[in-house]
Amino acid sequence: MTITFVGHGYVGLVTATVFADFGNKVYVIGHTKEKIDNLNRGIIPIYEPGLSELVKKNVDAKRLIFTLDYNPSISESDVVFIAVGTPTTKTGDADLSIVLGVAEKIGQNLKGYTVVATKSTVPAGTNKKVQRILDESKPQGTEVDYASIPEFLREGSAISDTTNPDRIVIGIDCKRAQDLLIKLHEPIKAPLVLTNFETAELIKYASNAFLALKISYANAIAKLSESLGADALKVLEGVGADKRIGNKFLSPGPGYGGSCFPKDVRALISIAKDNDYPFSLLEEVENINHQSRRDIVRKARKTLGDLRNKKIGILGLAFKANTDDMRDAPAIDIINLLQNDGAKISAFDPKSMDTAAAVLKGVDYKKDAYEAVRDADLVIVLTEWNEFRELDFSKIKGLMKSTNIIDGRNLYDPEQMKANGFNYMGIGR
Ligand code: UDX
Repeated sequence: MTITFVGHGYVGLVTATVFADFGNKVYVIGHTKEKIDNLNRGIIPIYEPGLSELVKKNVDAKRLIFTLDYNPSISESDVVFIAVGTPTTKTGDADLSIVLGVAEKIGQNLKGYTVVATKSTVPAGTNKKVQRILDESKPQGTEVDYASIPEFLREGSAISDTTNPDRIVIGIDCKRAQDLLIKLHEPIKAPLVLTNFETAELIKYASNAFLALKISYANAIAKLSESLGADALKVLEGVGADKRIGNKFLSPGPGYGGSCFPKDVRALISIAKDNDYPFSLLEEVENINHQSRRDIVRKARKTLGDLRNKKIGILGLAFKANTDDMRDAPAIDIINLLQNDGAKISAFDPKSMDTAAAVLKGVDYKKDAYEAVRDADLVIVLTEWNEFRELDFSKIKGLMKSTNIIDGRNLYDPEQMKANGFNYMGIGR
């Protein structure tokens, strides 16, 4: 098939590349010439394991074409995916202006029969607006059907999440489009959830909010464990062993971040409010998430007292490992709070130094973990990079001014760290 993706963020770029790798001809529309030129040379704007090689392979095979133009990409396509951003407005709603603007341009360039599917995370009811725009803007004699196909890929494991998802959700109301989309997704072996538009749209928000809820629950249990002298990791291991609960997304830490959970939880609260349902459960999920970030700072204050001119070494800046993404990373709030208290911050992250430098000022960025902890009064680990698991702690002890370490991701064994002479503080143990 020939397909087009509008948008080359994580979702657009990864899904488009995977569909090209399945043998389809895939156009990807962007709006910045420099980025499109780079992509056509196989240079990708994000760090995602394996993606750069896969993009290059499919660009070289001429199956993956990056373009600024809606024509001939849209007119040639059997299926067009909308995969553009839905940022949060000041009121917490999802900003749909980009999605709706793109829908109009797609509509104007349609030819023959096309299925247009939204991959962007949009509130229930958006499909009707997109459908109306497509119908109003399409040339006479063309036919268009609409579908909602939410995306569940995670950064850092985006390719395998796309080729091996837990499910494929398709919101659709027409057999012809359904058959075409099932055929397109045939190489992906996963259970199909076929449903109406509103249900598909809500499945995405409900899933992300539930995962965020699990994390905030784990963080609340961690907080309580600290007061009770329990080991939160063991508590959550015991809880997660119950198959009805499951052990995934129960790791306590500095709170969830990234481009999806914070935004989608906020949007679902706002959607609920608009529908006269105060989703206070999710408001508390957000509160606990903010507290989890502040709790790291509280631990720093408790350990060092006055933070003025204290040197704090931060290991890890990205919102999670295996990405260079700094969007809503806990490190941003935590470092800002520490800096407000007068602390001097040095930091290292294996991949996100450039993206971090754009959002975090006044930080002394170092070339490796050892340089970041040199002369530190306190070290705080904020991202669970594998390379931080293998650090030489006798070397670290020699480099630090003090022995204080807050392990925000529970990477290390508390007993071992204490035996090595560190004043070790984990999350929930
Ligand atoms: C998420 C969803 O998982 C994915 O399905 C959706 O398509 C996009 O949003 P992503 O943002 O890439 O994916 O990251 P994810 O791995 O889900 O982690 C989100 C945040 O939660 C990170 O900050 C991570 O560190 C945190 N987290 C995750 C925890 O603090 N504890 C956990 O147990 C799991």
